[in-house]
Amino acid sequence: MKPEEVLQEVADQTRVCTRCKLHHSRKNAVPGVGNPYTKVMFIGEGPGFHENEQGLPFVGAAGKFLDELLGDAGLAREGVFITNVVKCRPPGNRDPEAEELNACKPYLERQIAAVNPDVIVTLGRVSMGYFIDNGKISAIHGRDFWAHGRMVVPMYHPAAALHQPALRGVVKEDFSKLPALIGKAQKARHNSVEVQEVQHDLPVQEPGDDDSAEQLSLF
Ligand code: URA
Repeated sequence: MKPEEVLQEVADQTRVCTRCKLHHSRKNAVPGVGNPYTKVMFIGEGPGFHENEQGLPFVGAAGKFLDELLGDAGLAREGVFITNVVKCRPPGNRDPEAEELNACKPYLERQIAAVNPDVIVTLGRVSMGYFIDNGKISAIHGRDFWAHGRMVVPMYHPAAALHQPALRGVVKEDFSKLPALIGKAQKARHNSVEVQEVQHDLPVQEPGDDDSAEQLSLF
């Protein structure tokens, strides 16, 4: 199946999903949108009020700021893929519960496998926690980690910067580092593929083993 076909299938499944209680209160599932062939995937927490109304991710105030941040990174919304760890709105915008995260996990896993991005950017604490165990966002925001052969960059949630103006400059600076990190991730993955293709009998060096990136667990 082509990436766009997998993404369409996942989207169709989320719209009729009853795997957790969030389906009771959803108006629209929000599977995610974007370029199936992008190098960078942005993963937020879960749909809010406007997203639930429209079935699209990051269309409220935080989404407007995300568009600005993407611009700071030289990226456009249409060029990347944007989704959330849970596809249905948690009532009152509460944090998704472990059971809900688990129920939605197969959808996110299929989306990641289909898009196969070089870089995953997590937006906020919940999304970061999905990929990085025991991470502290204030300590690790804007830094690159390697997990299961992929670069993960935890960012503050755009909404956090709207609520705490002091974070605004920090988030903007973190996003401005993305082009360099994407380049680094692509180079590392490319080198890793070459090593695998040329030296079948030698242990393969993981991307990031030779630089400052840190190895953390994924999922
Ligand atoms: N916040 C999120 O985490 N995701 C959205 O889609 C909107 C707001």
